[in-house]
Formats: sequence, C-alpha cells, structure tokens
Amino acid sequence: MKETIAKYFKEAEAFSTDNPEQLEQFRIKFLSKKGLIPALFGEFKNVAPAERKEIGQMINNLKQAVQEKIITLKSQVEQKADQPAAGRDLTLPAAEAIGTRHPLSLVRNEIIDIFSRIGFSVSEGPEIEDDFHNFSALNFPVEHPARDMQDTFFIEKGPDILLRTHTSSVQVRVMQKTQPPIRTLSPGRVFRNEAISARAHCIFHQVEGLYVDTQVSFADLKQTLYFFAREMFGQHTKTRFRPSYFPFTEPSAEMDISCNICGGKGCNICKYTGWVEILGCGMVDPNVLEACDIDSEKYTGFAFGMGIERIAMLKYRVNDLRLYFENDIRFLRQFQASY
Ligand code: DAH
Repeated sequence: MKETIAKYFKEAEAFSTDNPEQLEQFRIKFLSKKGLIPALFGEFKNVAPAERKEIGQMINNLKQAVQEKIITLKSQVEQKADQPAAGRDLTLPAAEAIGTRHPLSLVRNEIIDIFSRIGFSVSEGPEIEDDFHNFSALNFPVEHPARDMQDTFFIEKGPDILLRTHTSSVQVRVMQKTQPPIRTLSPGRVFRNEAISARAHCIFHQVEGLYVDTQVSFADLKQTLYFFAREMFGQHTKTRFRPSYFPFTEPSAEMDISCNICGGKGCNICKYTGWVEILGCGMVDPNVLEACDIDSEKYTGFAFGMGIERIAMLKYRVNDLRLYFENDIRFLRQFQASY
C-alpha cells in the first residue's frame, strides 16, 4: 500500500495543465467519491495497527498535495481565460471567410427594396395570433370551409390562439392602428400543418402587401405587380392574371409570370405551360375594411401575398424546398449577398 500511495503522490506532483477540463478530470480521478483517495481511506480499515499511523499520515499528505495542486492550477487556468488574445496570434491578417446571407433573406430584402421604391413601408406582426386577426377579420366566417384550406396549428381552443397561417393577419393589425392612406409590406414566417416534402414545408415565409386609399383600383393592382415582376425577374417578364377566390378579397386573382426558366417555351418547371404562378391578390373585401374600422364607402384597397420560398426557387432554380432549412454550407455558399 505504501508503494501505491507513493506512486500516486509522484503522479499528483508531476501533473500540470492549463486546460480546465483536464484539471476537472484530475480532481475527479483523485477526490471524487469513487476516486483514488477515498479508495485508499476505504482500504485503510485493513491496515495492521502497527502501520496505521504512518500510512494514515501518507494518505493525508497525498490528499493535501492534490488539493493544493488543484488550487494552484485553477488560478493558472483562470488567468489564462482572462487574457483575450490567449492562444491566438493577433498579428495574423484577417483572412476568415465572410459568411453569406441566406437565400430567403436575400429574396425578402430584394422584394422589400423593389416595393420601397414605390412607397411601401414595412410592418410586422406576431407569429402567435388569435382567430380574429388570422381568420374572422379577414372575412372567414366561423365554420366556413375556407378555413380548412389552411391546415392550422392551434395552440389553444376557444377562444382560438394559433400559429398564423399567413401574413394577411398583419394587414388587419395595420388597418386597426392606422387610417388610410396605407401602403405597406409585411414579411414574415407562417406555419401550416403540412407534411414536409420537396414542394411543401410546415414553416415557410410570405410577404403580404396592402394598399388602401381613396380610388384605388384593380388597374393600380395590376400595374404595381407588373412593375414588381419585371424588377424581380427581368424586364422581358410577362404577367397574366387568372380569376381566383380568397375570402378577404373581391374580386380575387392569381398572378402568373412567363416561365423564367424556359422563357415561356415550356419546360418541366412550368409543366410545359410557359407560365408559373407567383402570388395571390385582389381588391380588399369591404367586409375586411369594416372589420378594421375603415370606411368602405370612402376607401378601397388592394392586397397581395406571395411565398418567399417560391420566388427564391424560381429566381435561383432551386428544386427542393428542404434545402432552405438544412443549412448545408455547400448550398448556402452559392449565394452572394447583394441585399
Ligand atoms: N393569404 C393568402 C395565402 O396565404 C395569400 C394572399 C392571397 C394574400 C390574396 C393576399 C391576397 O393579400 O389578396 O394563401
């Protein structure tokens, strides 16, 4: 036993580190409940009475040496952590690679930039919404099947609290707070209970647009979105409007652009039609204006909503939505931050 204690003593004396984890390992090895020193005290019971004094003292000395060692090394570790340049050569040139913006941020910023040139501001709203802002004020009657179009994640039932299914909820918040003229864009994250695939995700991003003033017409809507499409996808881009239905707009439409991949000739992206859908839009339903205390006799407005992922897919020819969320550095590095 004496030999063992002497061996431990040497080991403890020789030990040195400036690494906090190694120091903790050392402490655990010697002092923890199952460590070497408690084990020695355990064996001490079997030591012959004649040797007890000497061996007892040896173990105590070892324990003290280990404790002192820990105190000394600890102060060295702390001193090292206090030096900001520790382990780094501050004279080296700054050659670290600069990160790039996420493609969805690039596209969001570009959309905001395009609309800000024609007077649109940016407004935001909460991701956790109530039924009123996400549905009722937007003219979705209770029990109306249109609510099923959007597979909602509910947080609480009655009164319903939910994750917003679209950024149209922000229009309501803006109109409740501000009287016209209103010209605003609301970018943000939205949530729907959908299975994840190359074409759908349960979390995605939208930009909502809203313009309310006296004498706003469908012609204004078309011209605004035509301007957007050409700025975003190139001056040669054509647009077409197809009649559609949304509870919060009347009349409603969906806008297609000429396929920017094949130039309208037909390819697998546009399913050989030459056109791809990019957004929903329409004239704000008078019921929506009234729900937000805006006089629908005096004011009219248009609104539109688009998915940022979809615009980014067309712009960058990305064919799988999941790539946006996996953060594979090889994918992200391909995007240059100009916005
Ligand atoms: N909120 C719709 C959606 O999520 C998109 C949309 C369509 C927004 C038409 C609008 C609009 O403002 O006028 O599918």
